[in-house]
Order: sequence, then structure tokens, then C-alpha cells
Amino acid sequence: MAEQVRMVDIYIMGRHYQVPEGLTIMTALEYCGYRMIRGCGCRAGFCGACATVFNFKNDPQLRYDLACQKTIEQDMYLVQIPFFPSAKALYNLEEVEATGEQVLTLYPDLVKCFGCNTCTKTCPQELEVMWFMSDALRGDIREVANKSFDCVMCGLCAARCPQGLVPYNIALLCRRLYGRYLAPTSKHLEDRLAEIETGKFDAELEELKNMSQDKLRRRYAERDIEPAY
Ligand code: FES
Repeated sequence: MAEQVRMVDIYIMGRHYQVPEGLTIMTALEYCGYRMIRGCGCRAGFCGACATVFNFKNDPQLRYDLACQKTIEQDMYLVQIPFFPSAKALYNLEEVEATGEQVLTLYPDLVKCFGCNTCTKTCPQELEVMWFMSDALRGDIREVANKSFDCVMCGLCAARCPQGLVPYNIALLCRRLYGRYLAPTSKHLEDRLAEIETGKFDAELEELKNMSQDKLRRRYAERDIEPAY
């Protein structure tokens, strides 16, 4: 006899549904007939489009996660966050400086952070958001870039900040400044770029561009991979 799938009770926008256990929030929404046009992108935990807020029956504490990653649980109450605009400074990366003053000029509200830590508690990536905000305030751009490296820009930190700050956009600015001005250059990369510019690989690239898909796949599977050490 076929094994019975256990059904789980969930509530979407207040309406009760029963769905098979093991589904993600996103697949559960689809199972219940919701068609994901907005609030859905890569389905793999990278694009940050599917920020979701939920709590449980008789437990009012709000929780946050990515709908494509979080598995549904019994008595989950779900609502997805629609897009809402958040403050984003406009700048030309070639015309800004990699300094703390620059970050503060573009995001002066940063000084209003009073350290409540709501942003950290909200982050579905479990990043130390409040700590990188304080690094930003001290002008430590490298540390902000390090601590925010796995940010998927879902915007939940900004949605919950009682001061209206935008940690994800501030971190994006710092990662850009770090990548453009502070990250050490790689000799290996510079040498390779120079080789490309002299046309050293032109013939090989041309050969690849003209190759059939099958042959290309075979070539890819058979390629030499440099060891990581
Ligand atoms: S759909 Fe891209 S992170 Fe969930």
C-alpha cells in the first residue's frame, strides 16, 4: 500500500489550507493555487526576492525567512512582503571615495542607529547586521563587506528597522567601495587580463564559439581543474 503523505495545516493571508509536509513556503503557496509572479526569483536562496514573514497559531512572535528555503511547519501563518521602496543613495562609483565620511554623506541616517538589534534578528541569512552597521559608522568598509558578503538584498532588515535605516543598501555601498578601491589586486588576474588583451586566446575562443553544443559540453566535462591548494 502506498505510504500516506502527512498533511500539514497552514494559513495563508488568514485562510486555512492543508498541504503535504516537506514543501517550502513557496511550493506550499503554489500548491494552494497562488501563482508567484512577484516575490519569486531564483528559487535557490540567492536573489532575495521571496522575503516572508510568518508566525504560528497562538504564538504572535514574528519570524522571517526566504520562502524558497524555509520548509512549512504545522500551524504556520504566512504572509509575503510585497515590494516597498526603501532609501537608496545614488552615486557614481568612479566619483566616490572609500571612506567612512563618504558612507555617512550618502547615508547620514546611519547615525540614528540605536543598536536595538532588530535587523540582526530579522535577517534570514543570519548575518550580524547590527555589527556591520556599527562597522559602517566607524568607517570600517572592509569589515562591512566581509560581514555582509552573504546578503541577498531581501530588504527585511530595512522593513523592520524602527529608525527607517537601510542596512542592506549601506552594506551594498561598502561592498562596492571595497571591491573598487580597497580589495588587494591580484597579480595573477592582471597577468591574465594582459594576455587576453594581446590576443593570446583569440583563436581558442573563436574555436569554442563555433563548436556544437555537444562537443562543448564534452570539452567542459573533460577540462583540467586546478587544485584549490
Ligand atoms: S526566490 Fe530567490 S531567494 Fe527565494
